[in-house]
Amino acid sequence: MIAPQAAAPTAILEVRNISKRFGGLWALRDVSFSVAEGQILGVIGPNGAGKSTLVNLITGLSRPTSGQVLIDGKDVTGSRPWVIAHDRVARTFQIVKPFRGLTVRENVAIGAMHGNERDLSVRDSLATADELLEMVGIAKHANDAPGQLSVADARRLELAKALATRPRLLLIDEVMAGLRYAEIEAAVQLIHRLRDSGITIVAIEHVMKAIVSVSDQILVLHHGSIIARGAPRDVLSDERVIEAYLGNRYVKRRST
Ligand SMILES: Nc1ncnc2c1ncn2[C@@H]1O[C@H](COP(=O)(O)OP(=O)(O)OP(=O)(O)O)[C@@H](O)[C@H]1O
Ligand SMILES: [Mg+2]
Repeated sequence: MIAPQAAAPTAILEVRNISKRFGGLWALRDVSFSVAEGQILGVIGPNGAGKSTLVNLITGLSRPTSGQVLIDGKDVTGSRPWVIAHDRVARTFQIVKPFRGLTVRENVAIGAMHGNERDLSVRDSLATADELLEMVGIAKHANDAPGQLSVADARRLELAKALATRPRLLLIDEVMAGLRYAEIEAAVQLIHRLRDSGITIVAIEHVMKAIVSVSDQILVLHHGSIIARGAPRDVLSDERVIEAYLGNRYVKRRST
């Protein structure tokens, strides 16, 4: 007897042939990939490769010149950011965007209040905020103004704000930038914990040690195109990736 074929799991995120042009520059060109639920996809590539543009297109902050974005199989191309957010997609900004007139704690509470568990009371939202600030490691700054935070802590706040909306898909854009070496390990563990709690993650990161230990798969962008995709080990030994991004110094260091 032929066993019935298991249905292929729907990708939580699918990007189909997406391109984005800014004037004469193609920031992204014909990029396609998908992410299965529960996966962590790392995205790397040189400055200007199109990584943040990709996040902006997925989350509705800007519209693709062509191509589609599907969330859970549903075409959301061109939808407004808040509509996509209600599909339980959250992101952090590389250039942090706190509400400057609110405290750190209130910044996170806003996300909880207007996120995907509607009708959360102010009290419950603040309690959620306190839990998340603890989780990302900035509880002691709860009553500070966001402007008082260090660069690394401001990125932690971005992460807490995103998590407050209870996402199923989380896109993080260089949240580890500015962390000290010793702090990176904790950040990697936190990302694994988030995945274990059921969140699918797309992580953009320049810190190679972090991206390698955090990702199930890595996708490499260069001049707006995918030049490699696969398991971290395979991607890092790919000639094109070494040439475009890592450089020979990385290879020599790794082999010593
Ligand atoms: N709004 C915009 N208008 C014009 N050009 C833009 C705009 N946003 C991005 N670009 C250009 O598109 C290209 C890709 O930019 P993007 O910010 O996506 O790169 P990135 O991979 O995130 O780089 P980095 O590692 O420095 O953050 C760059 O050449 C950038 O200058
Ligand atoms: Mg960027």
